[in-house]
Formats: sequence, C-alpha cells, structure tokens
Amino acid sequence: MTGTTTPARTEPSPDGVGRLGRGARFATRWGLGHAVPWTAIRMQARGGDLHAAALVRSTGSETPVELFDEIRAGGPLHRSRLSFVTAHHATVKEVLASPDVRAGVELRGRGRLGRMSDWAQATAPMSPIKPPSLLAIEPPDHTRLRRLVTRVFTARAVQRLEARTEQIADQLLDELPRGEPVDLVERYCARLPVLVICEILGVPESETELVRAFGAGAAPSLDVGLGVTELARVEHSLRDFDAWLTQHLARARLQPGEDLLSQLAVATDDDGAPLTDAELKNTAGLVLAAGFETTVNLIGNGIALLAQHRDQRALALADEQRWGGVVEEVLRYDPPVLLTGRTVVRDTSVASVPVPRGAVVTVLLAGANRDPDVFADPHRFDIARPEAHEHVSFSAGRHYCLGAALARMEGRVALQRLHERHPDLRLRPGAERRPTRILRGYRTLPASLT
Ligand code: HEM
Repeated sequence: MTGTTTPARTEPSPDGVGRLGRGARFATRWGLGHAVPWTAIRMQARGGDLHAAALVRSTGSETPVELFDEIRAGGPLHRSRLSFVTAHHATVKEVLASPDVRAGVELRGRGRLGRMSDWAQATAPMSPIKPPSLLAIEPPDHTRLRRLVTRVFTARAVQRLEARTEQIADQLLDELPRGEPVDLVERYCARLPVLVICEILGVPESETELVRAFGAGAAPSLDVGLGVTELARVEHSLRDFDAWLTQHLARARLQPGEDLLSQLAVATDDDGAPLTDAELKNTAGLVLAAGFETTVNLIGNGIALLAQHRDQRALALADEQRWGGVVEEVLRYDPPVLLTGRTVVRDTSVASVPVPRGAVVTVLLAGANRDPDVFADPHRFDIARPEAHEHVSFSAGRHYCLGAALARMEGRVALQRLHERHPDLRLRPGAERRPTRILRGYRTLPASLT
C-alpha cells in the first residue's frame, strides 16, 4: 500500500497546515460528523424516539422493520427529535424527486457549527460523499457530470461485462474448498464485485489486491457514528487510494485502455470540456466505494435469504428466468442501503406538511420497501412478486443509483452460479451481520460445500 507519511510537528504539509492543526481538524471532523450525532441519536433512542431507536437497533442485527411500520403508521411524514422522517413509499419518492432539497445532511451555513465544519473539512481526504462527488452535488453541476459519466456507463457496457462476471464467479467457485467450513462472504461475496470494479477501472491484475484493500478500508465512510480509530483508518485508506489513483489516471490518460475509466478520462461534455482531475478521481472513488460494499451485501443478503426460504430457492432453481426476480426481491426485502438524507434548501411542503428551509428529511428506503400500499403482504419474501421492482433500494430521482444495472447483473450472476453449482447449499451456525448501520449486510456466512 502507498502509505501516507505524517509531516513532522513543525513542518507544514502541502495544504499549509501543521501536524497539530491537522490533528485538531481531524478531531473536529470526528466530533461533528460522528461522535456528537451518534451521542444525540443514542440519547433520543433512550427517550423513546422511534427514528433514533431504529438507527440504534440497526447495528449488527436484522433491520428493525417493525419500527418503520410504526413510523409509517404515524403518517406519511413523521417529525422525530432528529429530523423529519418518512417510511411511506409515495412520500419517499416525492422527497427524492423534489427540486427543493439537496442531497446529504448539511451543517454548512448554520452559524458557528457550519464554520467549524468547513474549517475541519479543509484537510479531509477526497471522499465519495463530498463534492465533487455526484452524491453531493446538485444541478447544474450534477446534470453535467452525471451526463458525462452515463455516456460511459451504458447498458451495453454492463452487458459486455456480464461474460467476464460469469468467468469471475466460476473461478471463485472453483477455488472454494469442499467438505470443510468456508466463509462465503470472504471467499465469494466480497471478491466478485471488487474484481468487476477492477475491470471497470482498468486495474492490472497485480494491483487488484491493493484496490480490494482500499475498498474495504474506505467503504465505512458511507456510514454514521464511526469510532475515532475507525475514522482514522477510513481516512488513511482514502488518502492511499487518492495517491494510487493519481498515478493510475496518469497511466490511463497516456495509454487509454478498453476500460470504462480510460474512456471517462478522455470523454468530453457538449462543450468539449473533459472531466477535471478532481471529478475523475472522485467518480472513480465513488464507483469503488458505492459499488463495493453495497454489491457485496446484495449477494450476501441473497444467500442468507435463499437459505432461510428453501421453497423460494427451489422455485428459482426450477426456472432460470426467475433469478432476475430473486435479485429484485432480495433488494426489496433486505436492502443494502438502509436510508439516505436530504437537506431542504427553501421553505416547502412534503406530503402537504410544511417543511422549513434548512430542515433535514431522513428517507427510510428499507421502510418504503415494506409499505403495504405498494407491496402486498410486505413482510413475506416472495421471488415471484410482480411489484418487487417498485422498491427504492437504488434511491429515486436525480441521484438514482448509476450502478443499478451493473449491481443487478452482478447479483443475478453471483446468486445463480452459486446455487446452480450447490443446489442444496446449507449455511452453518455462526452467520453474523456487519456492525454498520446504513450499509446492511453480513460480515460472515459460514457454509459447508459438498
Ligand atoms: C446493490 C448494490 C447497490 C446499491 C443498493 C446502491 C444504492 C445506491 C443508492 C441508494 C444511491 C443514492 C443515494 C441517495 O439518493 O442519496 C446510489 C447512488 C450511486 N451509486 Fe449505487 N448502489 C449499488 C451499487 C452501485 C454500483 C455497482 C455502482 C458503480 C458503478 C454504484 C454507483 C453509484 C453512483 C455513482 C451513485 C451516485 C449517483 C448520483 O448521485 O447521481 N452503485 N447507489
């Protein structure tokens, strides 16, 4: 790994901030971004707030869908002690499509706290959830950047990756030991998506392990309530990834390959302008972070659900056309991303409730996926459900997941290949969920393969 060297105490770093200043800014980033919000959430949960309780209960356990039902029963838009919150399908879509909100939860512009946050962010590493990331910008910048990236991330490009994804799945399955316990998350779910992303980013085979380490290190950056050591580890990985990308992009610009990153490096918008270096690096970082842990979790959640619902697994194995439906139902029933947030930029109304400028609306994607107005008998896992694709697991509106087609293809190939080769796959005791709250999935899925 290309380690970052820590500047000596008196020596200013390239951003002009000495070691002590960097430490203070890091501590502030952790405090404002993780410690303070998480303490507030825990306190409110103890006081009986449903929204806070749902967040606290999400760690390391099944998604608390019964709390989402309670929130929805209180009306389409609920006012919790943390923010406005919705688990109502139509309201979730209304918020995500609204021109009156911006992506993310913002402190900026909120007096002293906002100024402290800006000061602390000045030494933060590139992040998949900060500008110029697609996830953190709005029109017109978002429209321009998204259009450019979409030109490269086409349905045809995904189709072309399918044969390679099948090869990767087969190779990983060939390497799994028989007759002894194996952790399917470590040996299969976590490896397949990163190898596919390496194809997209044009990573030479000798460096795929490095990229896997960056992905694993950076993925928690999408979560809330990280511990101080964890945040330090995440930032370290992001810095290492940034340094590696700088070299990799220089290579891709000099000798563009067939990969999507090389194409993105030379793509231009309608006025002939290419992506800036920061936009290009950030997009590559987002593809790695957004496409890594989420897809790992989709595959893991699918394996666990099919092992728990053997009748549904038999149904899929009897007709290969059903695997698309399996993926939709897994995404609906146990979505890899629990929720997202929006900040209201002008006084508006949501579900006819007035919402002031500056308010935060938490959108419970996993809650909307269990709304009985849209999904009949929503707590039943049913791969033949005709309305499964109405789920909002890839969000909606202008920030709708850019990798949805890719993730669906990877999920289908990974689940179908595994189960066709091991039709009576049995999980062993010891399956554990990840401690992350927003990203939902398994840390381990022990199994025995015959
Ligand atoms: C099962 C797997 C995946 C899930 C559940 C998922 C989920 C999401 C969600 C919920 C958002 C929007 C967040 C918001 O509205 O605030 C999003 C955005 C995004 N995702 Fe995915 N994602 C997955 C896989 C991927 C993959 C494989 C890629 C990489 C190609 C990817 C790239 C992106 C990008 C670039 C955005 C930002 C789009 C924008 O803001 O315009 N995702 N994803």
